[in-house]
Amino acid sequence: MNKQNHNKIILDLFAGTGAWSRDYMKAGYDVHLVTLPDFNVRTYEPPPNVYGILAAPECREFSLAKGSRPRDFAAGLELVEAAERIIRRCRLAGPLQFWCMENPVGFLRQFLGKPPLTVHYWWYGDCIDKPTDLWGYFNFPKRIYKDPPALLPNWNKIKALKGVQNQSRATVRATTPPGFAQAFFKANT
Ligand SMILES: C[S@@+](CC[C@H](N)C(=O)[O-])C[C@H]1O[C@@H](n2cnc3c(N)ncnc32)[C@H](O)[C@@H]1O
Repeated sequence: MNKQNHNKIILDLFAGTGAWSRDYMKAGYDVHLVTLPDFNVRTYEPPPNVYGILAAPECREFSLAKGSRPRDFAAGLELVEAAERIIRRCRLAGPLQFWCMENPVGFLRQFLGKPPLTVHYWWYGDCIDKPTDLWGYFNFPKRIYKDPPALLPNWNKIKALKGVQNQSRATVRATTPPGFAQAFFKANT
């Protein structure tokens, strides 16, 4: 653990399992997992001197997977706006080094605009393909693989369905994959 990192605060908004910020935690950063049921992004008051912010709001209302079922964009946007409020407060309060908001490619870009980067998780060695939009102020994670793992038939389905014991398929699908999380960490320390 690097002691120099212990005063660098990382907010992991909508952290869920905390997978996105795990490498920061391992490296000794002061990681705050802002996630239900203990913390609500809607009402959360950030501490002073935040170093970086990761935000993975619920994608349900923006997801293409929802097909033609009715969407409650306003409910989805309320969470996005709560995260934006925290990001702006932190930047106004100090030199926020980076922030990033992610969502699977879907309808959120109709509200936030086209993102500066859309990643495929297999670029980073994760055997799941969920094209994901990234908005924010951050260094781009360095792509590792040029080609998808085409030699493994059904690689995406297999990984998506197996996952971690006792977790629903939806939770497994929502969990930030480790290859991407590590590449993001390396680019934003
Ligand atoms: C899209 S998932 C993010 C998963 C995360 N990337 C991971 O690796 O586990 C969104 C998470 O935000 C949580 N959540 C939903 N609404 C929230 C709120 N108002 N405040 C804090 N967390 C919330 C959900 O319980 C869920 O775990």
